Amino acid sequence: MDRSAMALLNIRTFGDPVLRQRAQEVTRVERAHRRLVADMFDTMRDAPGVGLAGPQVGVLQRIFVWEVDDRHGAFINPRITARSEETYVDDEGCLSIPGLLYPVERSVAVTVEGLDERGREVSVAAEGHLARVFQHEIDHLDGVLFIDRLPEDLRREALRTLRRQALGLAETRARGAL
Ligand code: NI
Repeated sequence: MDRSAMALLNIRTFGDPVLRQRAQEVTRVERAHRRLVADMFDTMRDAPGVGLAGPQVGVLQRIFVWEVDDRHGAFINPRITARSEETYVDDEGCLSIPGLLYPVERSVAVTVEGLDERGREVSVAAEGHLARVFQHEIDHLDGVLFIDRLPEDLRREALRTLRRQALGLAETRARGAL
């Protein structure tokens, strides 16, 4: 096996039902998880993105990878064990909802605990952007997308944009079929 070969996974986009399901706990961390995490890192960096969760690549397991500035890691069965009362609003996007950027309210700081891809216990205290990434990715594991967290008016606008995108895609496909 060529260990240097990149394996890019197919990123599922809005409308794919897998994004709306709750991912299952990993009962035992196995060698296959190390391979999956490596492939998820390749896929996230190629996109490029700062976080990628299992359901986004069609894997309904509670697992995500992240990379912010010069730090990166993987979480299996992540739990938010502490969060600041203080929140802040900043623009947020998602690899599964390409082209959309909306302001989302998140906790300023969270502590996330779980396992890494080798089954070791990990705890990361995050603030600001990294804390935002953690909250966004853990939402993915519960079938929650960032547009669900928008105020009603912005959520409607986002859904209208997504419907227009879907129609555009349908037209392109129809033309391609000819
Ligand atoms: Ni996302």
